[in-house]
Amino acid sequence: MSPVRRLAFVAGARPNFMKVAPIIAEMERRGNTAPRAFLVHTGQHYDRDMSEVFFEDLQLRRPDVFLGVGSASHAEQTAKVMIAFEKLCVDERPDGVVVVGDVNSTVAAALVAVKLGIPTAHVEAGLRSFDRTMPEEINRIVTDAIADLLFTTCEEADANLLREGVASSKIHLVGNVMIDSLLRQRARARSSKILADLGLAHGSAPARPYGVLTLHRPSNVDASDRLAGILDAVGKVASRIPIVFPIHPRTMKQAEAFGLAERLRPRERGETPTEGLVVTGPLGYHDFVRLVADARLVLTDSGGIQEETTILGVSCLTLRDNTERGITVTEGTNTLVGTDPARIVAAAEAALDAPSAHGRMPRLWDGRAAARIVDVLVRELGGP
Ligand code: UD1
Repeated sequence: MSPVRRLAFVAGARPNFMKVAPIIAEMERRGNTAPRAFLVHTGQHYDRDMSEVFFEDLQLRRPDVFLGVGSASHAEQTAKVMIAFEKLCVDERPDGVVVVGDVNSTVAAALVAVKLGIPTAHVEAGLRSFDRTMPEEINRIVTDAIADLLFTTCEEADANLLREGVASSKIHLVGNVMIDSLLRQRARARSSKILADLGLAHGSAPARPYGVLTLHRPSNVDASDRLAGILDAVGKVASRIPIVFPIHPRTMKQAEAFGLAERLRPRERGETPTEGLVVTGPLGYHDFVRLVADARLVLTDSGGIQEETTILGVSCLTLRDNTERGITVTEGTNTLVGTDPARIVAAAEAALDAPSAHGRMPRLWDGRAAARIVDVLVRELGGP
């Protein structure tokens, strides 16, 4: 009998955890009929509320290995993951490596694994914003160019890969694992007390309409005039409905550096500095899903939230000029609004005046993407 095969799953940053969780759960569910999963946490995100809390909420096994790379410049962070992950791969010789998403940990681990001749799979392949100033776009292009198995969420991603010369035999359209996590956790998220904690609940239902804001893209938060302009616009929207803003550490750090932090003082520290803006620290997965599910409107520059709002049927205004997730605009509830403050306010007013959003569920965003991925992993990497 051949020894049990082992696949290394690499996760490092907040949006990775909800992508690996359903795949690992599915592999564990299949027991000896699937390879064994071991989880490598690179440590790109390390604060409890950017990492640990997701393991609890997603019922994700503890990492088997923690590389502890932490924050640094792009080159340094990518290099640190590569050095540590190469040692691990040489020592452990996994039979395959699975990377997810588009963060620095994704491309770093893929480069290492492919050069060691270890079969490598990329989950969420083929997404393209066609904006090479976006660090994630570079990570996506490089990872997809070298990985052996490419798992995609939509036909558009397949077309992008084919156009770049990727062999169709490598591409597997499987659906969206982010949505697997969302559907798996939705019932638990319903019992989150976040609305009551923020003074937005009446019993278990929202007391009044509110919006949610997330902001962390370097293009939006690393330049003071851009960040100030977005906060001005949000301030105007917040005079109409409360806007909850769970702030990302990068954004808080930049707001402090630009002298904008006064406008963002968390609620618990006294009066609300921008009327209607409810600032919190980063939220756990269940709290965040509950908050978004009941929101009247979401303003965001995140990628994954464009997908989650599509499934939850919540209007999403994306504060970017482009998106790699076009399907959320064509089929879902997403509108690309850009970053001009007047446009943001006008789009928010229009969304609030319109009836609730309605989108179509993209094909295969049905909660079974992980099962399809594991079928392919077993077939392609599971045997001797
Ligand atoms: C990273 C990803 C981005 C993803 C985002 C989700 C890259 C290039 N970017 O961006 O694609 O959308 O994660 O959050 O991989 N920090 C903390 N605590 C932490 C982690 C970070 O305080 O646990 C602070 C540090 O000051 C750090 C800054 O946040 O310098 C940025 O962290 P970094 O991992 O470089 O990028 P993100 O902006 O989080």
